[in-house]
Amino acid sequence: MASAAVLSEARATIDVVPRWDDAPIVGRADELGRLLAHVQRAVDGRSSAVLLSGDAGVGKTRLLDELTARAAERGIRVLSGHCVDLGEVGLPYLPFVDLLRPVAAEPELAPIAATNPVLTGLLAGRTPGPPPVPAPTEGRDLSRPLPNRAAPQPADDGRLQLFESVAGLICELAAAAPLLIVLEDVHWADRSSRDLLRYLLSRLVDEPVVVVASYRADDLHRRHPLRPLLAELVRLPTVERVELAPLPDADVATLVRELAAGGVPESTVDDVVIRAEGNAFYAEELLAAGLQGEALPLGLTDVLLARVEQRSLAAQQVLRIAAVAGRRVRHELVAAVGGLGTGELEQALAETVHHHLLVVSDDGRYRFRHALLREAVLADLLPGERVRLHASIAAYLAEVPAAGTAAERAHHARESNDLPSAFSASLEAAVAACSVGAPAEQLQHLEAALALWPAVPDAAVRAGRDQVALLMETAAAARSGGESHRAVALLRSALGELGPDADAVRVARVRYTLAQAMVRVEDVAGAHRESAAALALVPATPPSEARTWAAATHARMSYAVGALSEGDAAADEALAAAAALGMDDAWSDTAVSQVRARSDTDPAVVRGLLDEALERARRSGDVDVEMRVLFNLASVAFENGRIEECLSWAGQATGRARDLGIEWSFYPAELRHLQVTALYVAGDWDASLAEADLLARVPEMAAHVRAAGLLVLVGRGDPAAEERLGWAKALIPRLREHVLLGLVTGAAEIDLAAWKGEAATAAEAALGACRRLQAQWPDDHLGVLRLVGTALASAADAAAAARLVGDASGAQRWVTAGDELIDIARSAVEVHAAAYGPMGVEAQAWLTRVESEGARLHGDPAPDRWRASVEGFGFGHAYEQARSRWRLAEALLATGDRVSAARQAAAAHEVAVRLGATPLRTAVEALARRGRLDVALPGVRTPDVSAVLTPREAEVLALLAQGRTNKQVGAELYISEKTASVHVSNIIAKLGASGRTEAVAIAAARGLLPTP
Ligand SMILES: Nc1ncnc2c1ncn2[C@@H]1O[C@H](COP(=O)(O)OP(=O)(O)OP(=O)(O)O)[C@@H](O)[C@H]1O
Ligand SMILES: [Mg+2]
Repeated sequence: MASAAVLSEARATIDVVPRWDDAPIVGRADELGRLLAHVQRAVDGRSSAVLLSGDAGVGKTRLLDELTARAAERGIRVLSGHCVDLGEVGLPYLPFVDLLRPVAAEPELAPIAATNPVLTGLLAGRTPGPPPVPAPTEGRDLSRPLPNRAAPQPADDGRLQLFESVAGLICELAAAAPLLIVLEDVHWADRSSRDLLRYLLSRLVDEPVVVVASYRADDLHRRHPLRPLLAELVRLPTVERVELAPLPDADVATLVRELAAGGVPESTVDDVVIRAEGNAFYAEELLAAGLQGEALPLGLTDVLLARVEQRSLAAQQVLRIAAVAGRRVRHELVAAVGGLGTGELEQALAETVHHHLLVVSDDGRYRFRHALLREAVLADLLPGERVRLHASIAAYLAEVPAAGTAAERAHHARESNDLPSAFSASLEAAVAACSVGAPAEQLQHLEAALALWPAVPDAAVRAGRDQVALLMETAAAARSGGESHRAVALLRSALGELGPDADAVRVARVRYTLAQAMVRVEDVAGAHRESAAALALVPATPPSEARTWAAATHARMSYAVGALSEGDAAADEALAAAAALGMDDAWSDTAVSQVRARSDTDPAVVRGLLDEALERARRSGDVDVEMRVLFNLASVAFENGRIEECLSWAGQATGRARDLGIEWSFYPAELRHLQVTALYVAGDWDASLAEADLLARVPEMAAHVRAAGLLVLVGRGDPAAEERLGWAKALIPRLREHVLLGLVTGAAEIDLAAWKGEAATAAEAALGACRRLQAQWPDDHLGVLRLVGTALASAADAAAAARLVGDASGAQRWVTAGDELIDIARSAVEVHAAAYGPMGVEAQAWLTRVESEGARLHGDPAPDRWRASVEGFGFGHAYEQARSRWRLAEALLATGDRVSAARQAAAAHEVAVRLGATPLRTAVEALARRGRLDVALPGVRTPDVSAVLTPREAEVLALLAQGRTNKQVGAELYISEKTASVHVSNIIAKLGASGRTEAVAIAAARGLLPTP
């Protein structure tokens, strides 16, 4: 088959992408385990065999490379032979000659090889020749007289002797060490090799030999000569068949990232993962092409098309129709469009299936075995041919509407340039998508219709509405699908379409809708301008629906920009008008805006209003408003520390959103984020992470949900945190206005750096994140409290380490840097108090944390402050409370209250263990060791400085901690300065520090220093 050569050539061309052979294998643990079990069997002295099947490029060779490396490590001799596609001719025994090459090169490996003439002949390339007569099953032509037709088959054409000799050679080799024989690509094996393989597998029983033969599953058509052999072999007791399935998407993503060494955007990774469908080779090719900006790599196209070109003309026609029809195609459609006779059609379809080009899906339709194959066939069509096929399919679908969906009709009509039909079908498809709750698809179809609008003369008649109405509808779909930016753009173009003479009420509607969309992309000032403009366009009397919504929207936007009295006036009007007109949704929306504008309202009143708002929103059937109310109910509960209640609201809301198909619209996404956070706070870390990871591919505007998984990953010290942090950070430049994404990413970055002891990175990240938040939410940026609280921890550590070595100016630098952060936190509290009043319990808790860390920064243990911080997080934030307890224990130790310190440390440790919060756990354990706390922490051994440092080094370290120079150390310990410096270097190296100061800090953190 020609494809083999092309495939290997194509591979040779991937040079922009680093080859992966040295890099670790991705996934495949299960299959490798099964293969290794067979190797073990051989080691135990029994023969064993595996038939490894998988599609071309799925990773058979890579897996076998891994296997042979592992086997070689265990002292097993590995012999590999490759079959090569040489078409009909075939060199007999080629894979075995290949396999035995090492023996030919080193005859002492197996003396028999040099003495047995059959073997010397084989190894020298002189084989007994192919079997003289084709086997009866392999196409003997009985009509033509053959010269030797009557002659009897020779009982032994010399082959038996050869088989025996090879088996003997293998046994001799195996007597020295267990043997792994790998035969690659046996779908190309010549007949002699097949026979030899059959012979060996049935002959070898009690030898330490394992044979692994690989073959391409997709090459085995129905009459492939390997088939009968496989069927026979699997019946042998020692033979197992292992199928190599496509790699899971996550593994392909890992592979792509590794290949690109971090150099490609995540969107490319996603794109390659989707298109490769688990095929490693395709993934590599697509990545290489992606880097070069090619759609479908040429090498890959050739490989794929080579398989098509070998088929009959009718089969190729079927493939072209299937490719144009879509990923799945019904028999009837091919019959109607194909122009083939019934018998011919059946045969052509059967041919494509038997050669693994098409497969029959569960629903009885045909689909391409691999989507890239379809792409290749499509790319190979001439433009005219393609348009013609689309037109035939469109005509068929118009005639038999039940045969396809409106979306399909739209697609084929558009591709065959029947734009009016495409337009109408797109609108139908949008209705269908909406009715099954699929806003993303609805949006796509509406946008398709909008694009066709100018090209369809009677568009308004066909649509039954004008373009502005269609734009508004499209914007609404965009909002439901979480595409807020798109919604804003669509509404702006609706506004542009209306022009100066348009009906004022209509303009007002567009403007307040635009305001509602703008606030979702954090353009609060712009939203306020639009809502004011809307209000000015509609008179207050008589009350009207448009005026009510304009007032409701303006109330909300006024509150958002901090114009409280302007907001109140609009809200009062909206509430009165909504009540008068029976507009429950507008009433609810306004009630929520009003009650959330101030934080000093009596909680009972807040709750009462929100409950009523929920009831009215539900009655009105307006799910947008309903979700907003639910979000606020959940947020209020969260802010007041009622985490259980928050989770119950959020769970209820996200469940309903899922049912409605608006899971990723604005509020449902916010609710999901809240859920991830609340589960984390409540200490249910597994659930939090699972919720964040529910979908690996989320719409960008919901990226903060997935990013929120960082809370748990960082808390656990999970190595995956780095990667996810990288992913989230890469999104920020593009999604700058996505405040929560920035916040959660910033917090994770700071905490991660803090745990690693990189105080400068933590402080810098905190400053950046705080400044961004201040700019984005000028009067409500209490989020900085958490950023500052976390960053201060490492600044205070660094200051303490500097003090420990008597580096006063170093300590002062950290104090100055930390104080700058504390100022930001204090100012956020003041600004918030002026605009909104008191803060929620979580913010309160973080404020106590900032103050406690501030004291520590200045060298004041301040146990009382830390006690307040422990109490502050007592509302139910398990982890942060434990973290505060750890510091409280430290402060208590410093002030001499060892008993209380031990109690706090034990409590913190218990939580850290329960959550799997490894960094915190390690820190508490180090504290217990360092302070020699009288507390039994499960799993903690008493400190053993001697295991790390020699006694002399321990003495030197103690002096270093007092800030002594090498000379002073030498004088004190009666050793030379030079010897002292050698000890210092050793200490630094053993602790993995970059210098003496850091060595002391590390030693202190690990409990290696005597308590001062
Ligand atoms: N699990 C894996 N981890 C990392 N790389 C892989 C993995 N599987 C395959 N690859 C890479 O993908 C490419 C194709 O894999 P491989 O050559 O093993 O496929 P194959 O199944 O042997 O294909 P063929 O049938 O064409 O011989 C290779 O470059 C290989 O290194
Ligand atoms: Mg291979």
